[in-house]
Formats: sequence, C-alpha cells, structure tokens
Amino acid sequence: MGKKALEIAGPGVDGTIAMLHKAYAFEMSTFHYFQYVANNIEGLGVLHENFFEDRAKEELGHAQEVNERLMELGTNPTDDPARWEQESGVGKLEPKRYLSLRSAVEKALEFERAAIGLYNDLANATKDKDHGTYELALELLKDELEDEQTMEDILARLEIQDKK
Ligand SMILES: [Fe+2]
Ligand SMILES: [Fe+2]
Repeated sequence: MGKKALEIAGPGVDGTIAMLHKAYAFEMSTFHYFQYVANNIEGLGVLHENFFEDRAKEELGHAQEVNERLMELGTNPTDDPARWEQESGVGKLEPKRYLSLRSAVEKALEFERAAIGLYNDLANATKDKDHGTYELALELLKDELEDEQTMEDILARLEIQDKK
C-alpha cells in the first residue's frame, strides 16, 4: 500500500474505498455477463460473439484498474464472487436469460448506464480531493459513455425499417 497515497487521498477516503469496492464488484459482474453471453449466444447473436467477448475483456480491464487503485489505498477487493452480486448494485445477473441479440444488448445498455452513474458519482466525490481516484473515475466514465453509445447504436439499427 502507498502510505503517501492514502494520506493525500484525504479524509473522505473511506467513502471512496467503499465506492471502489462497489465498482470492482460491478466490473467483475459485467465481465461475467459479457463472457457468458459470448460463450453461449445462439442464432443471430453468434454474428456478434466477438463483440461480446471484446466487451468482457474491456470490463475485466476496468476491474483490474479499480483493483490497482484499491491496493494503492491500502486494501484489496473481495475474493468472494458471491459478494459481487450483493455489492455491485445490479443484483442477480442471470445471463442465460439474455441470449438473443436484442435482449443481450438491451441488458448491456442497462449495465453501461449503471456504470456511468457509478463513475460519475465517484468523480464528483473525489474531485479536487483525491486526484488519483478522480483521474481513474474520469477515464472509466469516458469508456462507459462510449459503451452506452455503442449499445444504443446497435439497438437503433436492429430495427428493420419499412421503406415508404
Ligand atoms: Fe466497465
Ligand atoms: Fe462498459
């Protein structure tokens, strides 16, 4: 752990650490969701198998970055996958229920929006106080905003338009 890191993170660091634990649980949950969908999707969805796999990799990368920041602040994330569900704020994942392309993307959009809320809150809570966490929150917020746009674009183009 970084002693100086902890000191400069300021007096609100406990709240920040709690938010980072939640972010870790959230990213591991979405990683699992996307990887499961990538492995099991059938029908039209298989055309997008790599798409879901790439999303899984991205969210796993986010989890790793959050893990790193937690360690700098003197703690480790949970090692118990059962706690991801309780701590992520998104509840039970049940990716098996979302194995058609539309339902998989709709559920993903829900996650991306939850991620935006999470990193926006983290940025607000750390701005002008804990620069290390603030930078990370901004970086991850930017990724999640792009993810939301991607999911919205896919859903918009899934419709077959009637030519009139
Ligand atoms: Fe993420
Ligand atoms: Fe994302």
